[in-house]
Amino acid sequence: MRSKIVVGNWKLNGSLAGNEALLKALLRDIPRENPAACAVCVPSPYLAQVRALLEGSGIAWGAQDLSRFDQGAYTGEVSGRMLVELGCRYVIVGHSERRTIFGETDALAAQKYVAARNAGLTPIFCVGETLQERERGEMQSVLARQVDALLHAYGAVGLERGIVAYEPVWAIGTGRTATAAQADEAHAFIRGRIAAKDEAVARQLPILYGGSVKAANAAELFAMPNVDGGLVGGASLVAQEFVAIWRAALVR
Ligand code: 13P
Repeated sequence: MRSKIVVGNWKLNGSLAGNEALLKALLRDIPRENPAACAVCVPSPYLAQVRALLEGSGIAWGAQDLSRFDQGAYTGEVSGRMLVELGCRYVIVGHSERRTIFGETDALAAQKYVAARNAGLTPIFCVGETLQERERGEMQSVLARQVDALLHAYGAVGLERGIVAYEPVWAIGTGRTATAAQADEAHAFIRGRIAAKDEAVARQLPILYGGSVKAANAAELFAMPNVDGGLVGGASLVAQEFVAIWRAALVR
């Protein structure tokens, strides 16, 4: 059985003082021996601070993006190798905000996924349709295109130690969560697409739901057979909310 994972995506939020207060509050409630994995993906400048506070705890950490390059003349980039040096286990790849605001393509997201895996990180590969795409009945074709970019770049075997996050763009930061049934349907479609290439890889692949996950809706979402946890934005900045979401992942 797949175990649950709850990952916070702090996005462009945080301060040295605020991070410390938030993480200390999480550490009071999330034990070292942790049956549901828990992580925070923070802005890269804070990784050293986060590492110092979380090392040896039940909370892992990661970044929100990485370069497709390992090193060289690429001003402004941060490589997977650097993230590993800072103790990262996870890195988010292809988040819809990177795709829509910063123009990242399916191909670039797939290249970043490969770079993350080559560096030894667990990439969290984000996919999801916009509201217009859903209303036009294109949810499945968009998800297929995004997943196929990864399958073409790396093959299904590349997903063996990766994570996929289904984040419908219309549910991100809007307070409008997908229903548990909508999330499960999309997750089942993604899993099926990968199973067509490799059944065993698809069966063990964690698929997280992201988009206005809150303490109030987490348990219902996580109870669905194809939902293996959450990628949490706004609610991950509030200790009580994030802990409650993590607790919801403990109950199957
Ligand atoms: P919200 O939880 O704020 O909707 O953000 C979801 C998200 O984008 C996580 O990566």
